[in-house]
Amino acid sequence: MRLETQGKWLAEDRICNHLVLFGATGDLATRMLLPSLYFLDLDGLLPDDFRVTGVSRLGDTAEAILQRVQAGVSTNPRSLAVADDSVWRRFAARFDYLSLDVTQPEDLRRLADRIPERSNCLFFLALSPSLFGRVCRGLEEVGLVRGGSRVVLEKPLGRDLATCRQINEALAEVFSEEQIFRIDHYLGKETVQNLIALRFGNAMFEPLWNNLSIDHVQITIAETQSVGGRWPYYDEYGALRDMVQNHLLQLVCLIAMEPPSNLDPEAIRNEKVKVLRCLRAIGARTVSDDTVRGQYAPGYREDRGADSDTETYVAIRASIDNWRWSGVPFYLRTGKALADRRTEIAIQFKDVPHSVFEGEGQLDLSPNRLIIRLQPEENISLQLMSKMPGLTRDGMRLSPVTLDITQSDLQQDRRIAYERLLLDAIEGNSTLFVGRSEVEQAWRWVDGIIEGWSEAASDLEVYPSGSWGPDGGRALVERDGRSWRD
Ligand code: BG6
Repeated sequence: MRLETQGKWLAEDRICNHLVLFGATGDLATRMLLPSLYFLDLDGLLPDDFRVTGVSRLGDTAEAILQRVQAGVSTNPRSLAVADDSVWRRFAARFDYLSLDVTQPEDLRRLADRIPERSNCLFFLALSPSLFGRVCRGLEEVGLVRGGSRVVLEKPLGRDLATCRQINEALAEVFSEEQIFRIDHYLGKETVQNLIALRFGNAMFEPLWNNLSIDHVQITIAETQSVGGRWPYYDEYGALRDMVQNHLLQLVCLIAMEPPSNLDPEAIRNEKVKVLRCLRAIGARTVSDDTVRGQYAPGYREDRGADSDTETYVAIRASIDNWRWSGVPFYLRTGKALADRRTEIAIQFKDVPHSVFEGEGQLDLSPNRLIIRLQPEENISLQLMSKMPGLTRDGMRLSPVTLDITQSDLQQDRRIAYERLLLDAIEGNSTLFVGRSEVEQAWRWVDGIIEGWSEAASDLEVYPSGSWGPDGGRALVERDGRSWRD
């Protein structure tokens, strides 16, 4: 039997009809995962017989969890557009909850008793990674892992290459690589997918997409929020592990990869992993030239209640050693408690080789830039120089204009990144998920930086909360005669 979903025919046995959500009372589940499932239901994208079993250690109830989720989704314009609460009632009827300890085999047996024999399960582990291996083995022991089952993992996938490998190996004892879906929620963002469309759906960018035309690339993930109560997790990871190892490197891969032969997961992953392999290692010798680490103050140490060497800001000058990108720096930065909430990729093209406008009194020509903005709004724009309208005696004047190349309904159609990813996991499409070799290669590069920091005893620069980060972050780019787009 086959179902039609999103214009594709899928074998029904590839579709998971039962989601088991571990960590169901956590923040991620309440704010992102359960609302995403509700919106998928609203759009009619969940299989009719789809069920969700939430699991956590807390003595919560399905009603209380649903109430919290409903409070979050009810004010969303997509919910308000629905005339009555029939969709919510349908969604609520799919959900049940079980309080259990995942480390106890008898508790997992109770879970197995709840799940009908014919169900095809998708296990979502919104749990501490130290539990991943144990939970997977437990699920197998109670007979819940079947041919069509899949497992979705939230980051962090380890703290370094060694711990990441341990997790991957433990998972591989129970699931095949095709059954493992490693989430990087940045890949679920509409504009990130649009980047793939822009690069590979248009012929005009490809001849320019290299070191002959591009001067540099800068990627910023700036957050105004401080770490606050999340410090117990954050203090162990820091900005490099929390944001660079995954989100920032995924964006680098999508910008820098060669065109894949198609959108099959394998084809995309192979190209991404090649980029990661070409990233020039940063170690003790180069770490002080190529990286800056900072911590905001006041706030971080106060919340933490003690001194801490954890970076809340990191800036990196990365180089990709291959024919396409040789000589094109990729400047990456991310931080908490910064001046603005902004995630964007700016691809800056080279200056014109010779300005014909100088005799006209026009001295500054801004370089062309392709700006891919993910937050706060999502759009893609191209900055060009254009003649200022009007008739003057003192020659031709140019000024930069911005060409917005975003589909006009993108802003209205704002979705949670997890909607796309959950739907793909339910349907077994892993194109937007991260493969084992990618995640391990990314850790290999990040480990080099961490070792470099420790060998070179790198300083942690303090920056004022609400600023654009430490002076060193600015200097990293300005040394090369360039500047951040603040
Ligand atoms: C998470 C990090 O992966 O991404 C957080 O753990 C960060 O520290 C968050 O705040 C940012 O996600 P987004 O989608 O808001 O940019």
